Amino acid sequence: MQKQKLLYKGKAKSVYETEDNDLLILHFRDDTSALDGKRIEQLARKGVVNNRFNAFIMQKLADAGIETHFEKQLSEDEVLVKRLDMIPVECVVRNFAAGSLVRRLGLEEGQALTPPTYELFYKDDALGDPMVNESLSISLGWATEAQLTRMEELTHQVNEVLKALFEAGDLILVDFKLEFGVFHDRIVLGDEFSPDGCRIWDKTTKKKLDKDRFRQSLGDVIEAYEEVASRIGVPLS
Ligand code: TMP
Repeated sequence: MQKQKLLYKGKAKSVYETEDNDLLILHFRDDTSALDGKRIEQLARKGVVNNRFNAFIMQKLADAGIETHFEKQLSEDEVLVKRLDMIPVECVVRNFAAGSLVRRLGLEEGQALTPPTYELFYKDDALGDPMVNESLSISLGWATEAQLTRMEELTHQVNEVLKALFEAGDLILVDFKLEFGVFHDRIVLGDEFSPDGCRIWDKTTKKKLDKDRFRQSLGDVIEAYEEVASRIGVPLS
């Protein structure tokens, strides 16, 4: 399968059409962004690490019966995926308080959230990805009620599968973001799952091992991604 026209250049991935109208190629770049794309840096190896990380996680989710857009890894930094009609809503589950939730409610970082919370954000960098809800998503035509219900159900399922996977590597899955799309009338998990879109802490020391290292200028960003990968069994070479 060959890359054809560049369809879309995202902050960390480029999306290409292929000769098959149902399939796209995602190219994971080394670009790393924060502040809704206002700060961008190149981090060596990031594209390769995130491509391998994502392929491993998508396979684990497929094994658990969760349908994803992942088809196959094509090269070190490219993956073949199903072409989804993306829903412009980001689904976030939180097991512990961090990030925008801490800022919004003045909570202590690390406070357990029982049961895990579920939030929706409208995917729009210019607006800073504002928080929205189901009612708005339906009224504005982004998704139907049935689709939103399925997205919530699938996001919680992903949380159960991945919490256990990270726990086995002595890691805490603090929170994460998923994006879904429609493929032949079914809701299917799209985008990527990598340390760019989740928070992962060491279970004992609570050391941050995700993109917060970049956001908060803590250093050793890709080294942390590689440590997580090796602890959960992602093959990195
Ligand atoms: P937040 O604390 O900034 O709201 O983010 C919650 C989780 O979702 C965190 O793991 C980062 C991830 N996320 C993204 O990757 N991209 C986004 O646009 C948003 C809103 C969250």
